[in-house]
Amino acid sequence: MSDVNAFRRTLVTSALPYANGHIHLGHIAGAYLPADVYVRYKRLKGEKILYIGGSDEYGVPITLTALKEGITPKEVIDRYHTANADAFQRLGISYDIYGRTSWDLHVDTTQAFFTKLYEGGYVFSQEMEIWYSPQLDKFLPDRYVKGTCPQCGYEEANGDECESCGAQYAAKDLVRPRANIPGDTSTPILRQSKHWFLDLPKFTERLKTWLDSHPEWRANVRGIAYGWVNDLRARCITRDTDWGVPIPLEDPDAVGKRIYVWFDAPIGYVTNTRQWGIDRHSDEAAWQTWWKNPDTRLLHFIGKDNVPFHAVIFPAMLVGQGDYILADNVVGNEYLNIFNRQTGKEEKGSKSRGNMISVKWALEQFAPDVIRYYLCGIAPESKDSSFDWDDFLLRYNGELCDVVGNFVHRSLTMTVKNFDGKVPEPGTLDDEDNAMLAAIPEQVDAIAEALEGFRFRQALERLIDLGRKANVYFDAKAPWVTRKTDPVRTATTLFVCCQIVKALCHVMAPFLPDGARTLSGVLGVALPDGGPDGGPDGWNAAKEALPAGSALQPPQILFPKLDKDRIAELAEAHLRGEAY
Ligand code: MF3
Ligand code: ZN
Repeated sequence: MSDVNAFRRTLVTSALPYANGHIHLGHIAGAYLPADVYVRYKRLKGEKILYIGGSDEYGVPITLTALKEGITPKEVIDRYHTANADAFQRLGISYDIYGRTSWDLHVDTTQAFFTKLYEGGYVFSQEMEIWYSPQLDKFLPDRYVKGTCPQCGYEEANGDECESCGAQYAAKDLVRPRANIPGDTSTPILRQSKHWFLDLPKFTERLKTWLDSHPEWRANVRGIAYGWVNDLRARCITRDTDWGVPIPLEDPDAVGKRIYVWFDAPIGYVTNTRQWGIDRHSDEAAWQTWWKNPDTRLLHFIGKDNVPFHAVIFPAMLVGQGDYILADNVVGNEYLNIFNRQTGKEEKGSKSRGNMISVKWALEQFAPDVIRYYLCGIAPESKDSSFDWDDFLLRYNGELCDVVGNFVHRSLTMTVKNFDGKVPEPGTLDDEDNAMLAAIPEQVDAIAEALEGFRFRQALERLIDLGRKANVYFDAKAPWVTRKTDPVRTATTLFVCCQIVKALCHVMAPFLPDGARTLSGVLGVALPDGGPDGGPDGWNAAKEALPAGSALQPPQILFPKLDKDRIAELAEAHLRGEAY
């Protein structure tokens, strides 16, 4: 396990979603929201941190969508890149840059990676048999061909792997192949084509040493990574297609072929860091500090299906470059399922089933904080979790509104009304006051500890716990009663309450940026938002007092309650497939 304190800056990446559809809540709960909460926490703390994202714009997922919608691949990526960048931004996923793998700069980065590996002897070429459409006179890479799985008989299996049973096989073993292209009725045949392979077995020892040095990673990630590293095989990194980064070789066999999307996509993180450095510092070399300096801590946030790429293949590619750092953690997440009220069962979210909830749709219904609260609360960290409308209402209304929102609101309303809009001067503190005040730094540290350990659900629970403790204190002190009889006691109680409200304002900022911003305005406290260059520590500032006499603005409702009937209507619309 590495010494986290030895690092001087952190580079965070979230998986680059394919620009071939709208991002949905399942994506957010796994690879995006936890990363954003982490990044916002570190920025608030004043640590140097850079957050990279972007669209994955090459590969068969894009060209297939284009084919099925009758538009060009370029139209597909332009449409969904814009839509997804916008959805992320409105949800408050605070990338420092949201780039594109279709950028020219990305050709340069990708080709440099390929060339370095090629020259280092890590890439070799080989003839292989690939399905080919006689009717279209075209090769059918990846999902362009479907058929029956030779292992389990699943009829929608892909050319070389089965989604149903997970089997991987040689193309020629696919049973009853058919082209997955509208209008192509010919039966695919096998044809020879020369391709380039990444010689992964050469990296086995280096990858093992690296994995062995990280026992702290989530068990699910380690399991998948070791499964791969213990059985490494060369992987084909080129395809018969014209949609992708050109192969940087003067070889007639490279004509009509491109680099495989899973080779170029993670390199997109590097490209986007390069572009960020150019935009921000006009410095073409700024990115190198983030990718090559061993005192940078690299963290990847991803979904479970991306683990082999981020914990094995991309690291191998980085090792082959010679001077790159490797990830200090790969925060892999499980899946968010959808609870179907009609059947009473959990389902896998899928567009074709019509049960997917897009971020775009969700943002038409709810404020960003509402979505963020629920998704962070059910983040599928170590096992699958499920989206359920009843649970959504129960948690948001019952926890965030009733516990935190309500405490903040009644504390501030009473203070402003009875103490001339200022934090009151406390009298002598009793044991309960002292215990409550002592709980603040403890709870702030407990939340930080969970965040540092990538336990986002627990961090959020601990935040709510602080609200619960505060409500118990408030009810015990009953300032609405003492108001009439004991002004000093009331002042003391509300002084303590103001301290908790201030702490809540700081600690909620990573999770609930809009609520925190509103509240910071009411309290007149600063929430620093550092970034790549760092800044003041506004996280531990949660433990500092809000002095008596501080002026307060009129309180506002931070988290308006959701209406039960409205949620029932939305749940119905979701069941009708209208939430995408
Ligand atoms: N586009 C891929 C997916 O949605 C993820 C790519 S992550 C990257 O599964 F690192 F390769 F960019
Ligand atoms: Zn199968």
